[in-house]
Amino acid sequence: MTLLELPTELILLIALSLPESALAQLLQVHRSLYKLLLPNLYQRHLRDSKLQEGLFWCTATGNEAAVKKFLYYGADVNASMGILSIRHAKIPFQPWLDVQTPLNIAANTGNDTIVALLLSHRANVYGFSSRYWGTSQPAIVDALLSGHESTVRLLLLHGSPIHEPGMEQGGLVNCAISRGQISLLKLLVEFKADLNIPSQGSYPLNRAVSFRNLSTDIVQFLLDNGADIGLADGHPGLLLNQAIYGTIDTLRLLLDRGATYPPDDLERWLEILFDRCTVETVHLLIEYGYAPNIEMLSIAVRARRGDILQLFIDSGVDLNMRDTRGFTLLHTAIVRCIPRDPPIRIGGRSTRVSPTCMSDKVEKDAPEEIVRRLIRGGGRPQCPGRAGAHPAGSRQRMSSGDTADACR
Ligand SMILES: *[C@@H]1O[C@H](CO)[C@@H](O)[C@H](O)[C@H]1NC(C)=O
Ligand SMILES: *[C@@H]1O[C@H](CO)[C@@H](O)[C@H](O)[C@H]1NC(C)=O
Ligand SMILES: *[C@@H]1O[C@H](CO)[C@@H](O)[C@H](O)[C@H]1NC(C)=O
Repeated sequence: MTLLELPTELILLIALSLPESALAQLLQVHRSLYKLLLPNLYQRHLRDSKLQEGLFWCTATGNEAAVKKFLYYGADVNASMGILSIRHAKIPFQPWLDVQTPLNIAANTGNDTIVALLLSHRANVYGFSSRYWGTSQPAIVDALLSGHESTVRLLLLHGSPIHEPGMEQGGLVNCAISRGQISLLKLLVEFKADLNIPSQGSYPLNRAVSFRNLSTDIVQFLLDNGADIGLADGHPGLLLNQAIYGTIDTLRLLLDRGATYPPDDLERWLEILFDRCTVETVHLLIEYGYAPNIEMLSIAVRARRGDILQLFIDSGVDLNMRDTRGFTLLHTAIVRCIPRDPPIRIGGRSTRVSPTCMSDKVEKDAPEEIVRRLIRGGGRPQCPGRAGAHPAGSRQRMSSGDTADACR
């Protein structure tokens, strides 16, 4: 008698004694065996494998038919699995977080068929905690981080949260910004995303303006859809200060939209001059009416940034302003422009030209060049305590050497 002629009960009894892998092979032998033993295989997996690895595996590999069967035979659609077990079972996908559910995986791989299937079995669209693994994140975050727009839409249509406390990276809006995908942002706005929800004190606008790799379109889209400059600029000047690290176009856009800058804010100017150091940035700020004070000018002088100094001179600043100790710029240039880089003291704080500045291939000018620029621009030397000692017009009589001597 062949195996196939045995009564069903006996075949099932034999199957019971076989390991899962052998059973899987056996049911491939004949159609009737397949029909008879397949339910057994699923049920046995669900009974013996606490983790339901099969469900996770089939979800990751896009095997819709098998996912359907697992669910039919009672798999828990809300099962979760930790990263170590996922690695151990070699389930083929790249997780965004250490705790995964089948819905997370389907969203991650962007398989809308399986996402829909899991949703129809009432899969949990929120992040939730499991006893063993900790808390998973809402699957929509996986879909968004992986850039699957249709999956994001599908999950939004099924009530996925847009703003949930503790959501990875401060919520969907921030995730969409990080990806730089304006279509995703549009989708979120279509589903009434609020663009003014802060995460750790930082608004989406703060994030969007500060990345050099993000296009200005993103910032423009945020502004056009209700992102509030006033909120993001909680400490006046903050937003522009962040934008200085982004692109020049974004900076211009913010200035156009009325973002402002406290004109006398030394710290911030320091950062522009010593961190970003781009002439374009300074040029733009001058264009929008920002006038440097004497401290700022001396910083440019001492950092020997002839290019920036020249921009200030061309913008018509008064080169003969005096600092708190009564020094003019020319004096500073002559006395302080020594070839080694002395630390610059500002308001009791010592600072140096930052490495970023120098690694931007910024050329420092020779001290003589700085002095020359100042003299050409009309700068006069002035000694402390001798205000008025050199009235206007007397500068032709002095060489820079005289001045340095006279002021020591
Ligand atoms: C998604 O699921 C379908 C249906 O099971 C499958 O044919 C397809 O290959 C899957 N796609 C991906 C990207 O896994
Ligand atoms: C999965 O979780 C959701 C949300 O908690 C719940 O509504 C649903 O009933 C759960 N599904 C099953 C099959 O337990
Ligand atoms: C831009 O850079 C940030 C930080 O380096 C990164 O997290 C983000 O994914 C990048 N975005 C794009 C669109 O390249």
